[in-house]
Amino acid sequence: MDRRGFLKVIGGGLSVAIAPSLITQTLRAEDGRLYKTYNKVALVDSKGKAIKASSLQKETNYIFAYPFLGTPVLLVDLGEPTQKDVKLKDEKGQEYIFKGGVGKNNSIVAVSAICQHNLTHPTKDESFFSYVKRGQKSMAAKNGGVFLCAAHMSVYDPKAGGKVVSGPAPQPLANIILEIDKDDNLYAVGVLGSDKFHDYFKAFKREFKKSFGSWRKAKEEVQEKTTVSLLKEYSKDIIVY
Ligand code: FES
Repeated sequence: MDRRGFLKVIGGGLSVAIAPSLITQTLRAEDGRLYKTYNKVALVDSKGKAIKASSLQKETNYIFAYPFLGTPVLLVDLGEPTQKDVKLKDEKGQEYIFKGGVGKNNSIVAVSAICQHNLTHPTKDESFFSYVKRGQKSMAAKNGGVFLCAAHMSVYDPKAGGKVVSGPAPQPLANIILEIDKDDNLYAVGVLGSDKFHDYFKAFKREFKKSFGSWRKAKEEVQEKTTVSLLKEYSKDIIVY
């Protein structure tokens, strides 16, 4: 399905054509997935060159903005396949399905790096939110291989669509839907699961004014391409307890 074009939702025998301008609204497909479609955006490096899926370093935190200029995403090649068709539920009980990672090994995932507990997210100064490698010890994530928010120790399973493993987070992380073209180039196309974008933009109004010049700018949708950086170069300090 070309998500940039018209999208047809069929339910109860009805067909509804939805204009692209309305596609950002929440849509629930027949198979129970909860997803939102946004602009199809190419993942590029600092020189504007397309990021190849096979060029990602394994178990390394990358960061990019999507679907809005002010919303950070973590991108990780887990080095091992994810689970497939994982049934998840958001805090309101809405069900959806995580289909699995992308790439040859189904090992590449991207999640909204806004913690579902209290909106902690990476900043230029520090990141309390990161993927912790397998074998890396931490207080909350004994054997690593998880997304960890070290603010209050929420642990999420990246192989199971960001499902909560432990800690106070009330629902799974929102997943960024990725696509790979025939030349191995990566794109972000939408968001799966419940996000906290509304609360996040409300809570950090002052910060957005400082970093983007205006709150409205931070809320603009990313267009065409988004720059991918290493989290360790984006944030001065990655905090893992
Ligand atoms: S903000 Fe992430 S665990 Fe509390």
